[in-house]
Amino acid sequence: MKVLVTGGAGYIGSHVVRLLQQRGDQVLVLDDMSAGVPARIGDAVAHHLDLAAPGAHDALVSILRNDVDAVIHLAARKKVGESVELPEWYYAQNVGGLATLLSAMRDTSVNRLVFSSSAATYGMPDVPAVTEDTPCAPINPYGETKLVGEWMVADAARAWGLRAANLRYFNVAGAGWPDLADTAVANLIPIVFAALKANTVPIVFGNDYPTPDGSCVRDYVHVLDLADAHLSALSYLDREDRPHSTFNVGTGTGSSVFEVLAEVARVTGVDFTPDIQDRRAGDPPYLAADVTRIRETLGWSATKTLHDIVDSAWSAIQ
Ligand code: WQD
Repeated sequence: MKVLVTGGAGYIGSHVVRLLQQRGDQVLVLDDMSAGVPARIGDAVAHHLDLAAPGAHDALVSILRNDVDAVIHLAARKKVGESVELPEWYYAQNVGGLATLLSAMRDTSVNRLVFSSSAATYGMPDVPAVTEDTPCAPINPYGETKLVGEWMVADAARAWGLRAANLRYFNVAGAGWPDLADTAVANLIPIVFAALKANTVPIVFGNDYPTPDGSCVRDYVHVLDLADAHLSALSYLDREDRPHSTFNVGTGTGSSVFEVLAEVARVTGVDFTPDIQDRRAGDPPYLAADVTRIRETLGWSATKTLHDIVDSAWSAIQ
């Protein structure tokens, strides 16, 4: 099939692009290259475009008219702290960009969409494992834009028969190929690696949470498993009549910050004692996915362990 991947030159998007290419799909990439790296997408046709810019609708319509069968929409701003500082821009980019995409899809009758959503839609849930029916209560503009995006997708499904899957990513890390490594130092594992490379001490934000070892627990999912979930979602859109659904994409197992750091020490061979600092504002103590729906509906399960995640991420930056 012919698939347009927005944000396809980014860390996650490029893994999706490569899996699609490996199975023989034709892939078009749309990326504004603000965080994307052209070298990541091989010989995929690339369109340099910001979805929220003036004129994006018409440019998109002409791209979609090349017999595109489905869109996987990852292009978005994703820095939580920045979203608190620049909420209007986050709405313009993430919500405005999606509105433009949906309108161009409607105008060209492209009716299959996989939408990159986030566990940030849940906010600070008070349950050990969130199901897709756990009430969403995002606590920052980034999470809000993803939740509004899900509503827009649901409305398009109702209004004109869009077939769509919202994938709520949990904590994505690792590398499927060394050249597709996460080059942003924005999340726990890359931050810890950067600290070790700089001969500084990794930081743990809080060791007094109501969790087994006192540090925060998250559901770390390998980027290659996550990319594969997009392919499963595309098949689902083909399989059923006008489906529209939302899926958690995680492993179903939580790991604490201390457990991640212990795995980093094993993989790198560096013995370190982290610096325990105060809790970081807005961190839920525990956030892990209930993955029943995606397993039963899409037949998808994560295959890779925390060791695979840390090991592949470390190898990729050597
Ligand atoms: C993980 C854990 C930190 C750095 C964020 C977004 C979320 C999603 C994924 C996109 C937390 C702790 C971190 C450090 C630490 N993004 N930590 N020392 O906050 O769970 O999720 O990325 O959809 O929306 O909020 O990820 O990697 O920042 O933190 O102890 O130096 O590691 O407190 O418990 P988070 P993270």
